[in-house]
Amino acid sequence: MNDKLKSIHAEFEQSIVSVSSNEDLEAVRIRFLGRKEGLVTNMFKDLGKLSVKEKPVYGQKINDLKNLITEKIAQKVKEIEQKSIESLKSKGADAFDLSLPAFKNEIGAMHPLSIVTDEICTLFVEMGFMVVEGPEIETEYYNFEVLNIPLEHPSRESFDTFYLHKKSLLRSHTSPVQARYMEKNKPPIQIIVPGKVYRPDATDATHSFMFHQIEGLLVDEGITLAHLKGVLSVFAKKLFGVKTKTRFRPHFFPFTEPSAEMDVSCIICSGKGCRVCGGNGWLEILGSGMVHPKVLKAVNIDSSKYSGFAFGMGVERIAMLKYGIDDIRLFFENDMRFIKQFS
Ligand code: DAH
Repeated sequence: MNDKLKSIHAEFEQSIVSVSSNEDLEAVRIRFLGRKEGLVTNMFKDLGKLSVKEKPVYGQKINDLKNLITEKIAQKVKEIEQKSIESLKSKGADAFDLSLPAFKNEIGAMHPLSIVTDEICTLFVEMGFMVVEGPEIETEYYNFEVLNIPLEHPSRESFDTFYLHKKSLLRSHTSPVQARYMEKNKPPIQIIVPGKVYRPDATDATHSFMFHQIEGLLVDEGITLAHLKGVLSVFAKKLFGVKTKTRFRPHFFPFTEPSAEMDVSCIICSGKGCRVCGGNGWLEILGSGMVHPKVLKAVNIDSSKYSGFAFGMGVERIAMLKYGIDDIRLFFENDMRFIKQFS
């Protein structure tokens, strides 16, 4: 045992002098200290064959050798590093200080609008909806006509829509995807449509010329307003908490009849009345309604057999309420200090 230790030590001293690179050093480390077949490691394994008296004696000796080797390897690491710094310097490259710590890798964060969009889509996917997307450059036909929005409707004026050239425009809502999908797919239909929309609004704390909407559509036999209320109330409770109340106020949209806006009990004051809800305890969250028979007809769906409901909501508004953000411009300024709060 003594002889073996001596010969391993001698071999180590011989190998370490000739080492000049990290790769060579690693090979030496593996030969002597490698976990599977290292010479020193194997010595530990041989200890089992010794008598109870010899075991601690040799155990100590092997340990000493192991420590010595570990120390010399560490020393060599420093030597190699020093040499490489010197050689860089001699080449006039003293701008590099290899002893400085490396740059930290920045870990990114999801944008709050992506977080909220994902969360909302997931809630609807859990209820059987499928995520579908559509083009941001639309035709007048899909953005307006097929949705029963007549030529004289104010939203068709050039100052309410970005027209590109004669018949194409930047979509002003995600509703056109309803019609595109119904043209190609027959009921039952159950889709959720996230995406960017554009309106030539002057930018301020609550307006942006580009923002995000999520549209929903469900069409099948026997669908009623009760289904609309059920699905959207469950959605509100899942998004804002089980105690959230909902109310539906009659409204008008050309593509639904009847139409309603859905309010939720204020998520800040739980309906008592505060600054955020303007004191009345309710927050308007989305527009909805039963798909207008004219819309179904335009996409060749028999409205005497099928009915459906649709809804649309603004992602920025929901994100602002959820996170207490008071200026829509924060979403688009790309200030890292803002984004990092969501990591
Ligand atoms: N497209 C509407 C808007 O931009 C939102 C909307 C309201 C969508 C009612 C719908 C709906 O599908 O049924 O204001």
